[in-house]
Amino acid sequence: MTTLKYIRPLFRFLNCSSTLTSQRFIHIERRKDHVRLIDKHDTMDFHYIWLRHNCPAIGKSIHPKTGERVVDCAEIPSNIEPEQVEFVDSEKKLKITWSKDHTSSFDLSYLLANAYGKNRIEAKKPQGKVDDIEIVYNKDQYDAYIRSCSERLKKFGLVIVRKRSLDTEEIIKDFLPCGASVVETHFGRIEDLRTDNTTNEHTDQLGYTDAAINLHTDQPFIADPPGMQLLQCIRRADTGGANTLVNAAHAAVYLREIDPNAYYLLTTVPIHFHRKQKQFTSLHVGPIIQTEGDEIKQIRHSYFTLAPFNFPFWLTTAYYDAYRKYASILYDPQCQYRVTLNSGDFVMYDNFKMLHARDSFTGPRHLRGIYFRQTDVWKKLAKFDKEK
Ligand SMILES: [Fe+2]
Repeated sequence: MTTLKYIRPLFRFLNCSSTLTSQRFIHIERRKDHVRLIDKHDTMDFHYIWLRHNCPAIGKSIHPKTGERVVDCAEIPSNIEPEQVEFVDSEKKLKITWSKDHTSSFDLSYLLANAYGKNRIEAKKPQGKVDDIEIVYNKDQYDAYIRSCSERLKKFGLVIVRKRSLDTEEIIKDFLPCGASVVETHFGRIEDLRTDNTTNEHTDQLGYTDAAINLHTDQPFIADPPGMQLLQCIRRADTGGANTLVNAAHAAVYLREIDPNAYYLLTTVPIHFHRKQKQFTSLHVGPIIQTEGDEIKQIRHSYFTLAPFNFPFWLTTAYYDAYRKYASILYDPQCQYRVTLNSGDFVMYDNFKMLHARDSFTGPRHLRGIYFRQTDVWKKLAKFDKEK
């Protein structure tokens, strides 16, 4: 269906004489390593090396008697770039001039049939602008508050709400539909993140210290981690304790664009997420970036619960390089949201897309952590959509 949807408008172009004579509906954009063909509805991207590899020129590329290709793509320089790209023959053909004595002439119908880069959206580095995701609670505009949360969670994967409440149960009701409950973990129903916690028997983890905790997702070591997390600030730190968040799903799409080999390793090589506490252990084996087709489904990322890598020897340094390349995006301050929560504020985020971190701190900082199922949250938020 997608192919037909894409091809139809360009066929309309090919079959419509009034459009054929007008170039305003189709033009060419030269890029660093590829060309983009644009009409009113669609785009097609072709790498220069692909065009040279599939050049139909008899003699230069195709044997005149057998019609077979005479060029091995290994012979084509990876940085090949044409001198000129233009439409000819009433825009039915794309002419590419490689040199004085070599041109390729492609039928548009051939390009349409082989359009591997159709309507491609170029991935951009994620941008962490706090203004995009921050709202101030106003009790007189409750529905607008919920809609603002919904919009930001959908678009950016997180929302920061200022001055909401110290009443944790009141906030939970904002995101739970009737009959649903929060997700309980081995840390309890509501997790009190404070250094003097005495209510949790699993305090042998970084969350209950005043140490810095770098970027991670929560609970990657269980098969079905909670999809949303809310961190409510009861008391801020005396110094430090700021949070950092980054959209790791957007970062993964950007990684795919700039380093497909690294992306491939992080989406296919399983690693061991292994939580080992005195009274709790859990293991999940899977890749950091879980995909379904081209779609990023879920990120699992937690340096402090990783078991030693146990790859084949030849893969080990390549995997470290891929991990480091991904981290170079995640740890770029331009990509990160930096937030200091005050008493009564909360941040809520998609635990399948966002990584979160915390600076070290001093003083009796107290945050509460609550987990939700995504289906529950979206069901509740949908009740407040404008059209309803
Ligand atoms: Fe965490």
